[in-house]
Amino acid sequence: MDVLRSVDEIRRKVQIWKNEGYSVGFVPTMGYLHEGHKSLIEKAASENDKVIVSVFVNPKQFDNKTDLETYPSNIQGDKELVENAGGDVIFAPTTAEMYPNGFATLVDIEGLDKELCGATRTGHFRGVCTVVTKLFLIVAPDRAYFGEKDFQQLAIIKRFTKDLNIPVEIVGCPIVREENGLAMSSRNSKLSLEEKRKALIIIEALNVIKEMVYQGTVDAEELKKEAVRKISTIDIAKIDYFEIVDPDTLEKIDEVREKALAATAVFIGKTRLIDNMIIGE
Ligand code: PAF
Repeated sequence: MDVLRSVDEIRRKVQIWKNEGYSVGFVPTMGYLHEGHKSLIEKAASENDKVIVSVFVNPKQFDNKTDLETYPSNIQGDKELVENAGGDVIFAPTTAEMYPNGFATLVDIEGLDKELCGATRTGHFRGVCTVVTKLFLIVAPDRAYFGEKDFQQLAIIKRFTKDLNIPVEIVGCPIVREENGLAMSSRNSKLSLEEKRKALIIIEALNVIKEMVYQGTVDAEELKKEAVRKISTIDIAKIDYFEIVDPDTLEKIDEVREKALAATAVFIGKTRLIDNMIIGE
């Protein structure tokens, strides 16, 4: 499994593939790959002739220095996972390669970045939009694959890709969960066994309100209150947000009359986890 470090190298590789008439799928990641990433790479491999996986911990999307410094990494493990999942090459640039001296351009989005994760993580989505735009321009893929766990990120990427006429198809892929229901995340590796057990309260709360909707509760405030109450029974859980929103606009809704998205971010100890679920289908 080749790991290419420079923009020139990956561009040359893609050019050769395109000259051969191959389609290119792309899975952008920050590394420390898990089964969730594997499912994205497998889907990309089933829909494209060649698959590139980028591994880059993007400093511009971290609003917390410690979070950036402690972000897990394991390039050897990533290489094995990419190979087993059917990927062809890893693009793992250095920070200097992506943001050389004098770098001064940022890609910003209006509106969609204000709620949910954007409300408390200042500048986070500007960092995501900037790096993903750069990666799209460098890799020039036909299709790019993102997990629905980061539902807001996916909505934002679809929006700016359309707004900026970037010729790439954005493919959203379902959340992959551990057997007990915990959404897969590279951050799960930061949890102790006890924290992992306690983190299950997140999926439990989402399941409870989904069931409440099924039983006829439509009032979003009531649903939210129940979810917050349930999560708060765990001593080390601190809710960053819990919202019920329209899945297309991400705007808060008052009543769950049709498809709605329950989305949450919860600190379990020091680790911030996100999860979401479509309720009221
Ligand atoms: O979802 C992620 O891992 C990152 O936000 C992404 C899309 C790779 C951009 O750095």
